[in-house]
Amino acid sequence: MFSLTSALVFASIFTAGFATSPAQLVAELRDAPTAAARVGLLNTDDQFVFDFFNSPNKTVGAGGEIVLASSATFPAVIGNGAAMAIGILEPCGMNTPHTHPRATEIQFNVNGTLQTGMITENGARFIMTELKPGQMTIFPQGSVHFQFNDGCSPALFVSGFNSEDPGALQIAQRFLGLPADIIAATLGDIGVEEVIGVADIVPDNAALGTDACLQRCGLKRTAQDTKQAQPRVSGNAFPSGVSASAWATASGW
Ligand SMILES: *[C@@H]1O[C@H](CO)[C@@H](O)[C@H](O)[C@H]1NC(C)=O
Ligand SMILES: *[C@@H]1O[C@H](CO)[C@@H](O)[C@H](O)[C@H]1NC(C)=O
Repeated sequence: MFSLTSALVFASIFTAGFATSPAQLVAELRDAPTAAARVGLLNTDDQFVFDFFNSPNKTVGAGGEIVLASSATFPAVIGNGAAMAIGILEPCGMNTPHTHPRATEIQFNVNGTLQTGMITENGARFIMTELKPGQMTIFPQGSVHFQFNDGCSPALFVSGFNSEDPGALQIAQRFLGLPADIIAATLGDIGVEEVIGVADIVPDNAALGTDACLQRCGLKRTAQDTKQAQPRVSGNAFPSGVSASAWATASGW
């Protein structure tokens, strides 16, 4: 008789013959008793190569793209406490203000000239840098920072992180994903309609930067996707019957 046990035994023999899925490999690497065992689990040399210029795993917006080699996309970092990202910022492109919850970032500017800005915590002054090719800066863990290509050619930067899973938290998308009345009160009692109006237009990262740059480079601010908005669940749903449309129409948005 075909019992449940024999079905399970059969299923495990059957799946063992197949390459492990990415999630299984990550689980096995995390479970490995030693670093040497992890090397054994990564049994082809190409698992030690990450191709930033040909990765399907990237964050893309009208202003460029960010590609991250981390535990999820490059399992060879697991157990090593390090990750790396590149940013390709289009002319006037901006990696919008964000923090990394689990890592300090050191950022090397390959080409172009990048402006970066940072606030590390309450009470600390604002720091702005202009990085020329070959220069680097540091963004301490948890700092709010941005990178902006104020030039008319694409620019490339490289960032190292002291975590294999640095994480990123985009300030605008996350803040505007809080309940609208909480945001309205936080901003000095502006209207909930205004909050919804702004939440609806926050562009995906990397986004187009300043008007001054776009004008200098002869570029237009094209429509940008807003797919990185914080998903709405019951707790942060927009109040029923309130919409941004009347306000948006009145203010020309
Ligand atoms: C990376 O991209 C591949 C191919 O599109 C996808 O299957 C995988 O889920 C992505 N990984 C992450 C961590 O997003
Ligand atoms: C910087 O390097 C990137 C990637 O090779 C390239 O696309 C870009 O045009 C370069 N920018 C400049 C200003 O040289």
